[in-house]
Order: sequence, then C-alpha cells, then structure tokens
Amino acid sequence: MHTETHTTARTGARTRPRAADVLVVGGGIIGLVTAWRAAQRGLAVAVADPEPGGGAARVAAGMLAAVTELHYGEERLLELSLASARRYPQFVAELEEASGREVGHRACGTLAVALDADDRAELRELHALHRRTGLDSEWLTGRECRRLEPMLAPGVRGGLRVGDDHQVDPRRLGAALVAACERAGVVFHRSLAERLTVVRDRAAGAVLADGTAVAAGQVVLAAGSLSGRLGGVPPEVLPPVRPVKGQVVRLAVPPAYAPFLSRNLRAVVRGCHLYLVPRESGELVIGATSEEQGWDTTVTAGGVYELLRDAHELLPGITELPLVETGAGLRPGSPDNAPLLGPTALPGLHTATGHYRNGVLLTPVTGEVMAELLVTGELPEHARAFLPTRFTAAAAPGARADAATAALQR
Ligand code: GLY
Repeated sequence: MHTETHTTARTGARTRPRAADVLVVGGGIIGLVTAWRAAQRGLAVAVADPEPGGGAARVAAGMLAAVTELHYGEERLLELSLASARRYPQFVAELEEASGREVGHRACGTLAVALDADDRAELRELHALHRRTGLDSEWLTGRECRRLEPMLAPGVRGGLRVGDDHQVDPRRLGAALVAACERAGVVFHRSLAERLTVVRDRAAGAVLADGTAVAAGQVVLAAGSLSGRLGGVPPEVLPPVRPVKGQVVRLAVPPAYAPFLSRNLRAVVRGCHLYLVPRESGELVIGATSEEQGWDTTVTAGGVYELLRDAHELLPGITELPLVETGAGLRPGSPDNAPLLGPTALPGLHTATGHYRNGVLLTPVTGEVMAELLVTGELPEHARAFLPTRFTAAAAPGARADAATAALQR
C-alpha cells in the first residue's frame, strides 16, 4: 500500500492525509464499478464524489445497444461493446448478489423502425452493416413490426429486430454499485475532488472541496464529462472529454394500458435518434436529444417538445400517459466517441472516462479492465485500443506507440 504523506504547503490542505491503494475520482457508475472490482481484488479503495450513484446515469435510459448504436468506422468500439454485452447477465447476477439489490436487467431485445423513405434507407444501411460485421438483426415489414408492437403507428414502413440489445435501469444500477462498494469496504468521501496531488512527478491522491487530502498509490479519473476539469493535472494529460447534453422524458404506463410496449423501440425521425425504453415497473423513458451546449443542463420546452412530437409519430397512444419527469444529463464525449481507459502519461494516474453514449453498456467491461490494470499494472489486450494516450501522443507524430507502450510499462 502507498503510505506517503504530503506537506500541507504543497497541497494547501489542513487535514492529515488518509492512505488508500486507489482513489477513484467520480462516483458515477464507471467510477463505482472500478472501485467495486478493485476492492473485490483486495485493494483498499476510496471514492470521492458528493453524490455517489449520481451523474449521467441518473438521466440515462439504460439501453444496452451494442448493435443498434453501431456507427460506421466504430468497429473497434463494437468489439468492446459486444464484450461488455456478453458479460452483462453474469455481471448483473454477481452485483445483485453482492448488493442485495435488483438492477432491472431485462432481456427484451430492440425494434428499430422507420417512418419514411429516408429513415427506411438509413435503417437498410444499418442492416447491411450488421450483416457485414456478422451481427444478428432481422429485417421486418411495417406489418410485421406492428404485429410485434400493436401500438405502433400505421405509418411505420419497416424495421429491424435486434434480439440481443437489452436494457437495465441505470438508477438502480448506480444504487446497487454503491451498496456493493460499501459491502466490499470502499471508503466514500462525499465531497468533490478539486485538485490532484502530485508528489515527485507521480499522482499520489487528491485534495477535496471539504479540505480532506486523500493519499493514494494510484488515482483513477472517472468523473464523466467533468474529467477534464480536475485541478493539478498537467494540461497535456487532461482527458479530452466534453459534455454532450441529452434531455429525456419519463412517462408512466398505468396497468390498464400494459403492455404498452414490450421491447426497446428506436427510430431515426427527421435525422434525430429517438428511443423509448419500457421498464417492467411501468416507467417509459423517451430519449434523447444530443446537444453540444457546454455545461448547460436546462430542460427546455423545445427539447421536450421534439421528443414528445417524434415519439407521438411512432406511438400515437403516448399522449394518454402521465408525464412523470423530465431531465437533462451530460454525456462524456471523446474525440472518437470511444472511452479513454488506462494509464495516462503521468505515472499513477489512470482514466476511465469518455464513454459518451455507451457508459451503461460498457460498465461491466470497464470495471474488469480497470481492476486488472490497478492490480497487475497491465491493461488487458482487448482494451488497449482505448488508451488515453492515443490523443495526447497523436499531437507528437511518431510518439503514439512509444507513449502507449511507456504508459503500460509503468
Ligand atoms: N445511449 C443513448 C444516449 O446516449 O442517448
């Protein structure tokens, strides 16, 4: 265990540092799963977050959409996504056992539909991409779609049935991870990490907003869209994540209307991606806008209007349902839409951030690879394409391979 203490002059903190093997900065689902998996493997872990279990997952719908979120040029990300999707059933069983809480995992599959000729052409392209990449999806006529989901609008022109894209409830996932962490001995500091502590050119903990200095042998920066804002991190090491706002609407399906929708429903409506995620509890989540607006999390009339307008075109019956909640969250977007997993160029500092649209899906595999890194110093092979150094090294042509190799060897 790393036990170095720090001078108060260096950190500016008055409190005597407490030592941990690992400090995780950020207690969203990515930070929590990292903490839980590392603690399970015998490390002394601390998490700094004013509200563990909060973050973007409080707003996320929880689609596990490895197949239907596939985009051209993201085949490497697909491999990681599929690896995580395969782990989900076992991960959920283990987490529910460890926490004593259910996480609302539902193996319901997804139907992606098209309303007009343009949407249909886009969906046909996606189907072709699935076939080229060996993914399982089945083209259905509009009538076949309505047979599966009778509440669909008569105008639906066709769709893709994807049997392997399921769902989980991200709020329950976050709560279960907090409970599992507590049972595994993770120490929670309910305060914001303000400044990384660097001792002899090595990350050695952080100073929190409440003045606590937490000393740690390794630090994992897992603060979602805020990951680029931690003080004390050298600028060339800060992860290049940005906030991408998503607004969602939550409706309730009263028992008399059930089953309103049996599986996740997706569509591209006038170029905007829309999805509806029906939970067994009766909650129906409609999402999501995608807005590059900085740190703004205002729920706007326009955002809610567009979601409801497009959802109504797909499922006219939604206007009958009670509107329960609206919300907005910030996805941690990265320059290539893929996560930043592993060691940075600053010894002792790792990142687990930048999961963008796939944080819930990538939770199991992220916990696994980050724990392996923290325990052994080696990032597993299947995560090496996602090293954070792929961006910093790119700034100095020719240095990419060297920086990645050097980071892995520390
Ligand atoms: N994964 C869906 C979204 O980010 O909106």
